[in-house]
Amino acid sequence: MLIAGNWKMNTEANSAVELTHEVMQQASEASPVLVAICPPDPLLVLVNRSLKESRVRLGAQNMHWADSGAFTGETSSSMLQSVGCHYVILGHSERRQYFAETDQEVSKKVKKAIQSGLIPIICVGEKLDQRKSGKEQEVVAHQVKYALEGITVKSSNAVVIAYEPVWAIGTGETATPEQAQEMHLFIRGLVEKQFGNSLAAGIHILYGGSMNPTNAKDLLSQRDVNGGLIGGASLKPDSFGQIIQVAKEVS
Ligand code: PGA
Repeated sequence: MLIAGNWKMNTEANSAVELTHEVMQQASEASPVLVAICPPDPLLVLVNRSLKESRVRLGAQNMHWADSGAFTGETSSSMLQSVGCHYVILGHSERRQYFAETDQEVSKKVKKAIQSGLIPIICVGEKLDQRKSGKEQEVVAHQVKYALEGITVKSSNAVVIAYEPVWAIGTGETATPEQAQEMHLFIRGLVEKQFGNSLAAGIHILYGGSMNPTNAKDLLSQRDVNGGLIGGASLKPDSFGQIIQVAKEVS
C-alpha cells in the first residue's frame, strides 16, 4: 500500500514544515504502508530537510522532460532528485485541464522520470460526461497506453498509476468501491499486456478523488486498490493519519 499526499498549491514555508512534522508522526508506525508527501516545488528543500531520516518519502507534483535549458518556470528530474524526491506526480487532471498538458507530453515526462530513477505517479481518469456515456474504459485505456508507450521497467516499483476520476477530485463525490475496483482491475490488465503478469501483479494502482477517513476503508479494501492519492484530506494531519491507519489495517 502507498498513501501519497498531493498538497497541490497549498501551504507555505512555515505551514509546510509543520504539516511535515505531523505527517512524520502519523507515519512513524505505519509500516508496511508506504507514505509520501508531494509539496509545491519551492518547499521541497525545506520539507526534505525536515524529513531527515523519516520513512516518509518526498514527491513533486510535476516536472519537465528536458535535462536543462531555456524552459522558464520549469523543473527538471535531476533538480527534483537533488532535493530528495522519490516520486513525481505526472499527468494530473488539473495539469491536463488548466495547463493543456497532452498525452504526448505526459509520455515524454514519464520516460524521463523512469530514466532518471524517479518513480512517476501517473494520473489517469475520465470526466463525468465520459463516464455517463460509458466511455470511461476507453478514455483510461488511451491515457495509460500513451503514458506507458515505449517504456520498459525491471520492477513493479518503478511506476505507480493513480486512477482519479475527474468528477471525484475535490468534489466530495467518490467513486463507489465497485467502480474503483472495476477500473483498477481494467488498468492492471492493461499493464499486464505491456509488462507481463508478475510485474502487473505488483504495481501500485492508487485511487484518488475525495478519499477521506470515512470512505477510505471501503476503497482500500478492494482487491486491486493498492493505496490512495489524497488531495484535500492530506492537508489535515488527523485525516491523513486516519487514512494511513486504515491502509495499515487492510494491508
Ligand atoms: P482530492 O484530490 O482528494 O482533494 O479529491 C485528489 C487529487 O487530485 O490527487
